[in-house]
Amino acid sequence: MTNTTPTTTTSAPAPGPDPGPDPAPGPGLVLVLGATGKTGRRIVPRLRAAGHEVRAASRSADTFFDWNERSTWAPVLSGVTALYLVAPEDPDPVTDFVTEAAAAGVRRFVVLSGRGVDVSGESFLPGMARAEAAVRTAGVDWTVIRANNFAQNFDEDYAHAPLLAGRLALPVGDVAEPFIDVEDLADVAVALLTEDGHTHRVYELSGPRALTYAEAVAEIAAASGRPMRFEAVTAERFLAETLAAGVPEPLARELTAVFTFTAEGHLSPLTTGVRDVLGREPRDFTEYVREAAARGAWAPAPSGA
Ligand SMILES: NC(=O)c1ccc[n+]([C@@H]2O[C@H](COP(=O)([O-])OP(=O)(O)OC[C@H]3O[C@@H](n4cnc5c(N)ncnc54)[C@H](OP(=O)(O)O)[C@@H]3O)[C@@H](O)[C@H]2O)c1
Repeated sequence: MTNTTPTTTTSAPAPGPDPGPDPAPGPGLVLVLGATGKTGRRIVPRLRAAGHEVRAASRSADTFFDWNERSTWAPVLSGVTALYLVAPEDPDPVTDFVTEAAAAGVRRFVVLSGRGVDVSGESFLPGMARAEAAVRTAGVDWTVIRANNFAQNFDEDYAHAPLLAGRLALPVGDVAEPFIDVEDLADVAVALLTEDGHTHRVYELSGPRALTYAEAVAEIAAASGRPMRFEAVTAERFLAETLAAGVPEPLARELTAVFTFTAEGHLSPLTTGVRDVLGREPRDFTEYVREAAARGAWAPAPSGA
């Protein structure tokens, strides 16, 4: 096979005046909302490592941004041409924000949404559907990511504490779901923010294999060496247990709706979204579990504890 890789570039005479650095290809200044969250905190370093200019924003990120304080919007939008949008729980500010962002010069929007939102609409987690609708009507370039539930929910979100306590109880029955690894989602988001060719497209992102919550918890228990079990409970029991754990009622009802919807199987089919964008397969759940367990995500409690 012929090796076409240049071995040296130092002896070639310059063909004319030094043109200086390449004009910045790509998206210009990228604003990442939710920059401290599970997806944003993985997207920001990837963009920076690739040489892109990034503004990382949230209430506790480098740049202060609060959906509920409109005076924070204009400063974070200044000079921005591409935006990663993690919707707020309260959908009310979303449409105005997108309108203001478009007027401020944001050309490209990448919106994080959830699989099944075309069915569930605004019946729960309404920010996602509202954000999709807002970018579609704003006269901008947009791309939507509709993601399965994240693998990282098991070590960075709601399932972590219950697993450490030994029991995860959800009203999902024995539905199987291809959890998406947020590392893959972050790779996809970076591609969508920085590459051309994804405008006005919706990418559904799943992992490569659907597994039940019982199977997922069994894998985590085996890899971590920590006793844990999954229990499928009714929606009523889940709501009662969630309220008893001190979760405010609106959130407890919303979580119940999310899992009831999941149990109906809307999120179960595999998708090709990761391959379509990245040209490679998504990471398997087993790989996520092995890596998270190895860094102690579910480390066994110290003996005597
Ligand atoms: N978890 C899943 O399985 C899943 C699946 C599909 C879709 N989604 C969607 O993903 C989104 C969440 O994304 P994520 O998991 O990357 O984030 P996350 O881990 O839930 O963290 C939320 C992010 O939003 C920021 N934030 C919260 N309130 C804010 C406010 N008032 N103003 C400005 N920023 C605020 C937080 O930072 P500060 O606290 O610093 O402000 C944080 O960076 C939601 O829309 C969810 O519906 C989740």
